[in-house]
Amino acid sequence: MAQIEIPAAKLSYECPEDDTVLRAALRAGLGMPYECNVGSCGNCRFELIEGQVESLYPEAPGLQERDKQRNRHLGCQTRPLGDLKIKVPMREDYKARIKPVRTHGELVTIEDVTHDIREFRFRLDAPNPFLPGQYGLIGIPGVHGARAYSMCNVTASGEEWHFQIKRVANGQGTGALFETCKKGDRVELDGPYGNAFLREESARDILCIAGGSGLSPMISIARAVAASKALAGRKLHFVYGGRATRDLAGESMLRELPGFGTTIFYHAALSHATPEEAWTGWTGFVHEAAKEIVEGRLADHEIYFAGPPPMTEAVMRMAIENKVPVSQLHYDRFY
Ligand SMILES: Cc1cc2nc3c(=O)[nH]c(=O)nc-3n(C[C@H](O)[C@H](O)[C@H](O)COP(=O)(O)OP(=O)(O)OC[C@H]3O[C@@H](n4cnc5c(N)ncnc54)[C@H](O)[C@@H]3O)c2cc1C
Ligand code: FES
Repeated sequence: MAQIEIPAAKLSYECPEDDTVLRAALRAGLGMPYECNVGSCGNCRFELIEGQVESLYPEAPGLQERDKQRNRHLGCQTRPLGDLKIKVPMREDYKARIKPVRTHGELVTIEDVTHDIREFRFRLDAPNPFLPGQYGLIGIPGVHGARAYSMCNVTASGEEWHFQIKRVANGQGTGALFETCKKGDRVELDGPYGNAFLREESARDILCIAGGSGLSPMISIARAVAASKALAGRKLHFVYGGRATRDLAGESMLRELPGFGTTIFYHAALSHATPEEAWTGWTGFVHEAAKEIVEGRLADHEIYFAGPPPMTEAVMRMAIENKVPVSQLHYDRFY
């Protein structure tokens, strides 16, 4: 067990040999900045002042050459090889509301959602609750490095975690999940992680914007809003973007919710509809459709969004141009 000290913050915590600098800090209840947990965003960078470390993913895109020269490392991909002293700007808002833990789960259900999205349901060995909108790390047998996936269900106990996962061409994790994994298989599940969870304390209406693989956490948020007494009567617009009609998903899940059609509304936008599809709904990018749907009143909403980085960046740009305070934006970029 390594002891990790953050002298500037007058904090220290323990990190087991098989854990990472970031995840052990979050498990210890400390607010260490991060976002993706898979080596892509760079938000978890820390400076090593003293001690030895090992990188679990040396080629991770979140670390630049100049970071390496300054002895900076990615907290989510670094394990200690003994006691460490590190420098990192700690932040209260990254303290986990539910401390992440590691457990295992059995794959109990696999269902098609679209031609390239499937729902995978796992029953956990030990119940592990999460907040709507959060994600977990799946350790897939035979795949190097855990992959991040957002849960789509709502659960008080956390006995099951359900994920809606989009197949990625040549992807190792999704390749294994779609081609080799079968019911009864076991995986490691670590979480919950992520700050894009539902804020029940906000009195604003809600806008959920999802592109492609971003379906799962937005479905979890919509389900939680429908079940929440604190949010009763609050309007929720759910806007889903795909390229063509075969990509569309989510409407049937929302139709099952109390309030569908009165307070909960589903909208789809297609970016590449062909004339043969005779599409009469929204066309263009999903963020542009979302703005028109709320008649430009973006700042009156709590905005949740998830999907590939170009989509999340377009939503962020639009929100900033329309003077939406950053405290009303809750998102995960799906690297
Ligand atoms: C917070 C978050 C939530 C997400 N939620 C969803 C979701 O709900 N549904 C969905 O379909 N997708 C989601 N994704 C995307 C998902 O995590 C994968 O990036 C995607 O499925 C492609 O994975 P792959 O293994 O098939 O592709 P690959 O190209 O094999 O892997 C790409 C991903 O794995 C990471 N990676 C690659 N090698 C390593 C390694 N050695 N160690 C550690 N990490 C490595 C990369 O940084 C990248 O994130 C989410 C991503 C993030 C960051
Ligand atoms: S949280 Fe470590 S690189 Fe994104």
